[in-house]
Amino acid sequence: MSWGKHDVLEKSPMLMLVGILIVVSIGGLIEIAPLFWLSSTVEKVQGMRPYSPLELSGRNIYIREGCYLCHSQMIRSLRDEVERYGHYSLAAESMYDHPFQWGSKRTGPDLARVGGKYSDEWHRAHMIDPRSVVPESVMPGYPFLAERELDYDDIQDQLKTNATVGVPYTDEMIEAAKADVEAQAGKDSGDVAALLARYPKAQARSFDGDPEKVTELDALVAYMQMLGTLVDFASFDEAGPNLR
Ligand code: HEC
Repeated sequence: MSWGKHDVLEKSPMLMLVGILIVVSIGGLIEIAPLFWLSSTVEKVQGMRPYSPLELSGRNIYIREGCYLCHSQMIRSLRDEVERYGHYSLAAESMYDHPFQWGSKRTGPDLARVGGKYSDEWHRAHMIDPRSVVPESVMPGYPFLAERELDYDDIQDQLKTNATVGVPYTDEMIEAAKADVEAQAGKDSGDVAALLARYPKAQARSFDGDPEKVTELDALVAYMQMLGTLVDFASFDEAGPNLR
């Protein structure tokens, strides 16, 4: 092949620019065009639901305390990750997250499927003093969470705000938000059946071991214990309707 003709291209910036634009737009079309034929980029799954008010409060504490600086919530589709953490994360699993908590750094392990991995007692001990259960841990302790009562005066507004950005909270859910916080945190007065009707699979008990008080630890542990437990993988089709 002769380089003669390529010379023309390389010596003329304008011609080079036009050439680059043509090549880049072909690449762009190949990446972008298929999205217009997919019915959805979020796969259809069974079991996803919005966070219960107590879980949402726990998530707010997770964000407030900066847990995302050391923990990701996104299992990549790589063999080592799937073997360690479980099924890779699906887009549907963070579709109600505003903002999402995928994270970008793992000083500690991924938490996308930590729900059910440990007992509440373990989480309590670990949050109060991580080294009491994992001697070599470099995670800071958060002992104050067990003492601080959860402030859920604004929980209805929290749900409303999420509803504004598309989370399907109904008027009934917003109306019952405070009662649902108490029911899920194990207060005797709570109507757990109503909570479960609104939030299937919600775990209701005193997560911090003290049923009298709703503490920040209750909320955070409730959040930890539900992470990754919602999607029904038995009914999930890996190939997905979009790919057939
Ligand atoms: C400075 C980094 C750092 C921060 C901040 C941090 N962690 Fe950790 N976390 C770790 C490390 C390291 C481990 C692994 C050792 C251990 O289990 O303590 C860990 C472990 C964990 C585990 C156990 C995970 C498993 O699968 O074994 C949970 C749950 C957890 N952290 C929750 C939290 C929560 C909730 C917060 C915020 C309140 C938080 N972490 C903040 C570093 C951090």
